[in-house]
Parts: sequence; C-alpha cells; structure tokens
Amino acid sequence: MKKEMLLKAPPMGWNSWNTFFDQVTDDLICSTADAMVREGLKDAGYEYVIIDDCWAEKSRDEKGLLVPDREKFPRGMKAVADYVHEKGLKLGIYSCCGVHTCAGYPGSFEHEFSDARQFAEWGVDYLKYDNCFHPATLSSEMLYRRMNLALRSSGRDILLAACQWGRDNVHEWIRSTGAHTFRSTIDIQDAWRSIESIALSQMEKTAFCGSGCYNDMDILVVGMYGRGLNPETSIGGCSTVEYQTHFVLWAMLNSPLIMGCDIRSMNDETRKILTNRDVIAVNQDPEGRSCHKLPTYGSPDAFILVKQLSGGDMAIGFFNFGDAAAHVELHFWDMGLPLSCSMGLSFHDCLTHEDLGLQKESFSRKVEAHGCRLYRCSLQEM
Ligand code: GLA
Repeated sequence: MKKEMLLKAPPMGWNSWNTFFDQVTDDLICSTADAMVREGLKDAGYEYVIIDDCWAEKSRDEKGLLVPDREKFPRGMKAVADYVHEKGLKLGIYSCCGVHTCAGYPGSFEHEFSDARQFAEWGVDYLKYDNCFHPATLSSEMLYRRMNLALRSSGRDILLAACQWGRDNVHEWIRSTGAHTFRSTIDIQDAWRSIESIALSQMEKTAFCGSGCYNDMDILVVGMYGRGLNPETSIGGCSTVEYQTHFVLWAMLNSPLIMGCDIRSMNDETRKILTNRDVIAVNQDPEGRSCHKLPTYGSPDAFILVKQLSGGDMAIGFFNFGDAAAHVELHFWDMGLPLSCSMGLSFHDCLTHEDLGLQKESFSRKVEAHGCRLYRCSLQEM
C-alpha cells in the first residue's frame, strides 16, 4: 500500500526544554496542548507537543523497558498521548543514542528496537534523538541509522528528529540515515548573540536545508524574555524586534518551528510573531527550498535572503545584524533579473500585511538594529 509522506514541511510544535528544563510533567504537557488550541497556535500550523529530557525514571524496569517518572507522569505516557491526540495534536518524546541521555537518564543505546516499540505503543509521533554518552567506537551516523530502522519497524509513523549539534559534518550524511530533521548547532540561548551566531553558522549550508530532512536550528526562544527554569538557556532575554528577526530567519532557512516559551502565558507580541501566517507560509512552502544570501550596499552587517517558493513567488528578507539602523538596498539584477527583461516584482509585506505594489529595478528600506523585513514577491511584466 502506498503511504503518505510522513513529513511535507518543517515540523511545527512546542518543546519543554528551553523553559521547563527538568520540570516536565503530565500537567505541563496537557495544559500546553490546551494552550496550543486556545491561543490559535494549532490553527496556525503547530502540531507537535514535545517532551524533552528528564521524563523517565533513572533506571529501566526488570524487562529493560523505560519507565516514565512516577511523580511527573503518574498516569503513564499513553494517557498523555491520548489527551494530546484528542486535541488534534501529536506527541513528541526524547531519547538519546547513548547509554545515558544528556541529563543522565537512560539512553536508547542497544535498546533501540524495544524503545521504539514502546514509543509506538504509547502513541508517540515524534522522537528527538540526542547524541550524548555514546561509545566512542561507534559513529553517531550508525546509531542514527539504527534508530531510524527501529522506528520504521515499530508499527507507527514516528518522525525522527536527530539532535547531533552539527558535529562530524552531519548535514552531509544525515539525510541518508532516514532522519527527518537534524540539529545543526549547539544549544540556543535566549540572547541575541546566540540567535545571530546560529543563523550565521548555517548560511553556507542552505543547500542541505530542504525537503525530506530539514536543518533544525534549535528550539525557538521567541517570547521567553529571559524567563525559564533552564539555567543554560534562559539568560538575558531579547527584545521583541530580535524575536521577530529570529522567527523570520528560522522560517527562511527552513528550520522546524518549535516554540520554547511558556505558550500558556505568552504576551500579545509573542502570539503575533508565532502565528504570523505570511511568515509561516514561507517556512511551510511545499517546494521546500531554502534560501541564498545576497550582500547589500552600505552596511557590512546587513544582508538579504532570497527563497524561491512554489507558484513562482519568492520570499525576500532584509536583515540587519548591526547595532545601528541600516539602509538595505536590493538591486534586482543581483537576484538574476536583468534590466532588459522588463520584469518587475510586486511586494507584499509579510510583517505588516500591506501590499506595496509593483517595484522595478530596486527596492530599499531602512531596517532597525537587529531587525528585519520580509516580503513575498512575484514577478510581473512592467
Ligand atoms: C542536549 C540537547 C538539548 C536538550 C538537552 C537535554 O543538550 O541539545 O536540546 O535536549 O540535551 O538534556
């Protein structure tokens, strides 16, 4: 029987790690699923509610099976999965290809097939699979292959989200392991410098950020504003402008959009950023192409990203990583549109939702420090 493709666009969802660290509970997951529906996030496309590390008891049972923490998940995982599914959402869980998870809980090393079966029985739909504590003699490439086969034989469609932090040129081989996404960097922090360095580190790898296996630039920090229990992540916080830029960058580079703030109590600016359908459409575009970078004139810290979309449209992002406002100017011939072709571009502003009409030859805008603009453009006869 021909099966549907499991993943048609970068996955969208929420993950517990950034804000809740080891305090992941049944109540947190179920109330977050409620918020996903109530706050319009499900309607905007968010689907996966993902339990990160620290959900299990520190030891397996006598049969070698994983045991959900009895205090955090007193009803077990199946009940949580059922609740999430009733909301029309999907459940994600976390494990690791090593002997222990990164936080010291049991890892799936040499338990891959029984763990995958257990996840399938619980009704899990997504597995974030980390890279700590695996034997030095075995490559993580082999261990990701193993878990892929374990999941594919588990009897349930479970998306494999590899979390290998960009080591060993993961972008070159991960696609062939069967994984659906791959983490390409170290852990994000709720600070502009972290967002900036993750984004810049992936610019040369956009060719590997496409359909089938997406480059996961890590959980979004949008809306955290320095809050959270994770001492590694919750440092400082960012401005709303910086969160906006972060979201647009992740959208343009085809990263999964996995929220990391407490969506049960987010402010209006956060909701507006996270539910912006014009930006989400750029990320979820069915052609799944990533972008390329163009320099601009003037500021060395400003640049332009261009992403081809289905139906002949393209997304054009103006970014300013400098600490002062910059004038960003796009000359259409730098994108491959010679003056002689008598084609212009119509601009729709994805952040203000205004139509800016047909532009010819060039388009420029002032962009504030750490800010961005995003346009959806189509080619038109002049
Ligand atoms: C690693 C991952 C994080 C998180 C923690 C959990 O650091 O990169 O995203 O899953 O492990 O321990």
